[in-house]
Amino acid sequence: MKKIFSRREFLTLGAAAGGTLLGANIESLNPSSQNKTETPFPWEYRILDVEKTQNRAYKNYFQAGCMYGVFGSVAGQVAEDLGKPYTDFPFILSSYGGGGVAHWGSLCGTCNGAAMAVALFHQGNLRNQLTSEIFAWYEKTELPVYTPQEPVKVEKNFEMKASQSKSTLCHTSVSRWTQASGFSTFSPQRAERCARLVADIAGYTVKLLNQAAKDQFSPQTQMSAVSSVCRGCHGQGKEEAEGKKVISRMNCSVCHPNVHKK
Ligand code: HEC
Ligand code: HEC
Repeated sequence: MKKIFSRREFLTLGAAAGGTLLGANIESLNPSSQNKTETPFPWEYRILDVEKTQNRAYKNYFQAGCMYGVFGSVAGQVAEDLGKPYTDFPFILSSYGGGGVAHWGSLCGTCNGAAMAVALFHQGNLRNQLTSEIFAWYEKTELPVYTPQEPVKVEKNFEMKASQSKSTLCHTSVSRWTQASGFSTFSPQRAERCARLVADIAGYTVKLLNQAAKDQFSPQTQMSAVSSVCRGCHGQGKEEAEGKKVISRMNCSVCHPNVHKK
């Protein structure tokens, strides 16, 4: 058992040892602060290469899934550039987000990983703007686009179908791809699709983080067009408009296709 000394006891101890110990030294003697390493936050970002990130993200997917694929590739490279203690960060914790968090099919792990990476470097409004830009892009873009040099799950000449998810939800995103491609959810082709998606999202995240680092990021698409219309009445801060208020920037028409239509 460790004995936790009170500050007063330490001051007495210090005085007994010659009266020269200053506050800082006394703190370092405190057993409860001894094992503490300073963990800097937020991290300083380092400009990354988009293509290098994509290749690493693609490989990472096969190690620990989609969220780790994105987060580990982006944060891992910056950590390697910054050195210790950054390299001690337990990047692998981000594997929890695979399959939309423990296979719940909720938030796509690539989005979750991108948001976590952004949050390492930015806080507040800029963090939310970067995250929204990535999520809105994810909803509307036909993905995957990335083609690996050496595909892991399919032949080299495999023709990968791209699909528009219209949603940041794993379940929806995967299902739209299985419908577009004809392959089933637990097929090697679908795993390959998600690995390539990981590369795409990691690449896009780095593109935006690079822009932000150079003060060149300005929000373009922060949500789908339909959502901004709906939020004109149902969004926060629209108290003057009728309609119940909701928390959502997701594409509304995916779940409310027929509302307000006569
Ligand atoms: C001009 C304002 C306005 C706009 C724009 C608008 N709504 Fe509404 N909406 C209302 C009002 C008023 C109601 C009545 C019930 C309430 O207070 O929510 C309503 C009701 C709803 C309901 C609840 C329906 C029910 O069964 O109770 C949903 C869901 C909804 N809107 C979704 C949407 C979506 C999705 C969009 C965009 C495509 C949208 N709304 C655009 C004003 C608006
Ligand atoms: C992933 C599916 C999904 C998306 C996307 C979604 N909604 Fe909903 N929404 C729901 C469900 C489910 C309910 C609850 C419906 C019920 O119980 O009748 C709901 C309820 C609502 C209600 C009623 C709220 C209340 O307090 O009664 C409104 C208004 C609404 N949504 C508007 C929106 C708007 C606006 C958007 C886009 C910004 C949106 N929704 C996006 C699934 C969704």
